Amino acid sequence: MKVLVLNGPNLGRLDLRDSSIYGDMNFQGLSEFVIAEGKALGLECDVRQSDSEVEIINWLHEAAEKNIAVVINPAAFTHYSYAIRDAAEMVKAPLIEVHLSNPLSREEFRHTSVISGVANGTIGGFGPDSYRLALIALANIKN
Ligand code: DQA
Repeated sequence: MKVLVLNGPNLGRLDLRDSSIYGDMNFQGLSEFVIAEGKALGLECDVRQSDSEVEIINWLHEAAEKNIAVVINPAAFTHYSYAIRDAAEMVKAPLIEVHLSNPLSREEFRHTSVISGVANGTIGGFGPDSYRLALIALANIKN
């Protein structure tokens, strides 16, 4: 099964972000980790990152059209992008929201996710393992 693993703004520069929150893995390392973990589960992960809301929406349209499962870390868009939420809602294959950190243990503005309501589930707080746990869940969901 193919999986689109979509990552939102600033995740491409994990090397510059607060490592006490996001850990020490840069985005290249995270991508390689996700691809390897996916492969071990029989999943073919296509890992993408964009700082552009438009590009992420286009990728969700692609997932909707081709019926591809999605793991998405919408990053800051999580908290306010109704456009990404609406695009995520179009995806009929499983869609799982992930976060490296636990947004609920951070600033108040991160406590709202406009995406969770259209996701099969949300996993946060486990660093790169959040992605691995999402892939395990996907592998167990029957389409
Ligand atoms: C994040 C959490 C968001 O609140 C934040 O804006 C991010 C990353 C995470 O993976 O922990 O950029 O989605």
